[in-house]
Amino acid sequence: MTAALDHAAAPAAPAAVPADWAGAAPAPIGVDQAFNGYVAATVVHALDRLGIWDRLEHDPLLDLRALAAETGPAVRERVLREVVRAAAGCGWLRLQDDGGTALLTTAGQEMIRMRGYFTWGVGGYAEVFAQAHRIVSGEAEFGTGVLRDEAMVALGSGQNDRSFMAGTLDEVLADVDFSTLADLGSGISARVSRVVGNRPGTRGLGLDISGPATELGHRTIAEAGLSGRVEAIRTDVLDVCHRAAHRDKLAEVDTVMSFFLLHDLLADPATRPHTFTRLREAFPSARTFVFADTMLRPDAEGAQTLPVFSLGYELAHALMGVPLHTKETYEELFAAAGLVPRRTVPFGTPHSWLYVLEAR
Ligand SMILES: C[S@@+](CC[C@H](N)C(=O)[O-])C[C@H]1O[C@@H](n2cnc3c(N)ncnc32)[C@H](O)[C@@H]1O
Repeated sequence: MTAALDHAAAPAAPAAVPADWAGAAPAPIGVDQAFNGYVAATVVHALDRLGIWDRLEHDPLLDLRALAAETGPAVRERVLREVVRAAAGCGWLRLQDDGGTALLTTAGQEMIRMRGYFTWGVGGYAEVFAQAHRIVSGEAEFGTGVLRDEAMVALGSGQNDRSFMAGTLDEVLADVDFSTLADLGSGISARVSRVVGNRPGTRGLGLDISGPATELGHRTIAEAGLSGRVEAIRTDVLDVCHRAAHRDKLAEVDTVMSFFLLHDLLADPATRPHTFTRLREAFPSARTFVFADTMLRPDAEGAQTLPVFSLGYELAHALMGVPLHTKETYEELFAAAGLVPRRTVPFGTPHSWLYVLEAR
């Protein structure tokens, strides 16, 4: 991970792109890699939903008989063993004791760390990808006949946050003074809960359009013991911007965060040039905006290697009709709204940047 750029000290310094954002997966992708990758992705997600990765995280040795007994009364033990065998075939587990136990490998440890991508892709977008041909032909449309699983999208983002983004955000927020924080597109409210929980005396709001994600958010807040300090509200952030929904609560917010939502807010070309100005107006007391999003890969066409995530992110949004933008476009839109970058930091997922912006 490269160091953050401090724009107060060096306003025009170009940001360095982390080397791993180019990826190591070769393009062209071979037939065997493509097919096995597809199956392997479903296996990662199955292990996640069955709680097997969680178990392995705590104890790298899995007793398959105990696993079957604890998976539920209707468990199909033979199928469960086959799913575990498939994970072993992918090299993430090593079967031992005539298949009675499975040991987590180093590659499996890495998969646990990165499994949020699979919750996002397989859990969240499987139907969108599977219906790509019907979306293209005009037989189906995203949002009516074809849906994503919003709770899985939010859960996958939350898993990735915990695994490899939280440290960067905490380091960046250490320099930000706040008392009331709003997180736009807060998903399961994990991030706003963690940030508020770590700073005594602060309060937080998590705003998200998704009913299922907001429900999970209520649970996250209660489990973190933050009821009364953090509130999850189901709302469309565009209503907050354009129709001043929840005006009273938002008036107290001094710092606004948003992670991996901005591209949705910028989808409509008619409102795009003014979206950040409207956001500033919706939060009249906010002086600091902490924004992160995944941006278009520069030079994607000629790339000889692929990183994790980018291809899926770009295709999923194309199928949903949501345009993506370059880093330069974000920076032009920030500037037009009087939002001046104080810091710009690479943010874990390839081609994702975190900005601390000052409202001037
Ligand atoms: C990719 S997820 C990111 C979740 C979370 N910020 C994170 O980083 O873990 C995007 C979230 O934005 C929410 N969302 C999308 N459009 C929205 C809108 N117009 N208003 C509020 N939330 C929205 C989705 O429901 C989803 O939870």
